[in-house]
Amino acid sequence: GPAGAGKSSVTKAFAKRLGMLYLDTGAMYRAVTWLIQQEKIDPQDHNQIKQLLKNLKLELEPNQQVTKIIINGNDVTDAIRSPQVTSMVSVVATHRSVRDELTSQQKEIGKAGGLVAEGRDIGTAVFPNAEVKIFLTASPAERARRRIIDLQNQGFSTPSLDKLEKEIKERDEMDRSRSISPLMQASDAKELITDGMSIEQVIEEIERLFRAKIPHEVWPNPSS
Ligand code: DC
Repeated sequence: GPAGAGKSSVTKAFAKRLGMLYLDTGAMYRAVTWLIQQEKIDPQDHNQIKQLLKNLKLELEPNQQVTKIIINGNDVTDAIRSPQVTSMVSVVATHRSVRDELTSQQKEIGKAGGLVAEGRDIGTAVFPNAEVKIFLTASPAERARRRIIDLQNQGFSTPSLDKLEKEIKERDEMDRSRSISPLMQASDAKELITDGMSIEQVIEEIERLFRAKIPHEVWPNPSS
């Protein structure tokens, strides 16, 4: 789903509830971005980035809360959340070579099953055969309202609701129209519009869809 739909919060809480592993694919794009910055590589330089990918060692430990991530021996689990990484990651995520490399690693991680994954291209490019696909969304007005509450809770000053809604619409348009892995609902994904729903209600609805689709025998044990 689009930015600000609540993918991370919902996926994490759902994985915990069902005792499944949580894979945050954005963290992988962030880790590569961290390395590019560390090596002082121009984020537009295809050739240097390709070279960097040749020697890439990305170690991931998905659990139920956070995807611990180590790149070329550096634990970057926290560092990848910095504003510097955030401001460059969308450029890095447009490189075909980066997407191919990370998508193939994600497919490898998913082979064993029992995984709850989130990301803009999960239901389309990464796991086209996933058993349950949710396209999580909310109207721009609702996402703007939630964003304002988040900012207030973190003690930041807040822009006007109109300005924020306009920015969200612009970002949606960019995400949908980019040529590489655009934001797109998979044809077999269930769209869940979460306007007016609490996180708890969203998780309950996803759990209902999951339990309707997956036979009892393979239900993971819910964690406490
Ligand atoms: O979800 P996030 O903010 O951590 O994602 C970081 C960036 O990576 C964001 O610009 C979108 C991009 N991304 C992507 O292109 N494909 C994914 N599967 C996950 C994230």
